[in-house]
Amino acid sequence: MLTALRDQLCFFRQFRQRFETTGAVLPSSRFLARAMTRPLQSLSGPRRVLEVGPGTGAVTGRIVRLLRPDDRFDLVEINETFAQHLKDRFQADPHYRRCADQSQVHVCPLQDFACEAPYDAIISGLPFNNFPAELVESLVDRCLGLLKPGGTLSFFEYMYIRPARLLITRGPEGERLARIESILQDRFTRCRERRDWVFVNMPPAWVQHLRVR
Ligand SMILES: C[S@@+](CC[C@H](N)C(=O)[O-])C[C@H]1O[C@@H](n2cnc3c(N)ncnc32)[C@H](O)[C@@H]1O
Repeated sequence: MLTALRDQLCFFRQFRQRFETTGAVLPSSRFLARAMTRPLQSLSGPRRVLEVGPGTGAVTGRIVRLLRPDDRFDLVEINETFAQHLKDRFQADPHYRRCADQSQVHVCPLQDFACEAPYDAIISGLPFNNFPAELVESLVDRCLGLLKPGGTLSFFEYMYIRPARLLITRGPEGERLARIESILQDRFTRCRERRDWVFVNMPPAWVQHLRVR
């Protein structure tokens, strides 16, 4: 309870200080975390798992509970405050400590992450709607490129937010959103496996699961 409150405060402070990269007021709910980690549950090990944009660990907490001893878990976080928060948790929280030796927090943007080998599952919290369209394209394609054949990229988007903003936004901002929509729709057509609807989250969200063949 106290930990959840501390996480929310930390998250809200980062939302105010670094709105563009934080992209949300509150961390994801446990229902959203469960949907984001769905593909992980059906994979037989040993599994290589990457979390991009873990923030205060709303989804990380679920991932560490699902990890098996021979899995590998990398986390890539651009924000040093969030990264330190997670590093502390890997030392202090028993669920995290159990898998500390097989996990590593990398403090860098995904663009600069030097990956050693491809992943079976990538779970991303990146706030695509906040980024320039070219960056969204390169980040989504980077994630898809880091997957093994058959691997899954799971990421969330707040329900109807981009379509609604597209209806009321004109000019360069409207063009940016339209371009993001078109980039993502193209990847959905090519590789979407399923979409989960998560209503118990602030705000409600879709989880998009993309699989590379
Ligand atoms: C919407 S928050 C999601 C946090 C957490 N996964 C959750 O669901 O509560 C976005 C996260 O992505 C991180 N982030 C943004 N741009 C990034 C980038 N280029 N590379 C790595 N992390 C990034 C932010 O610092 C933040 O932790």
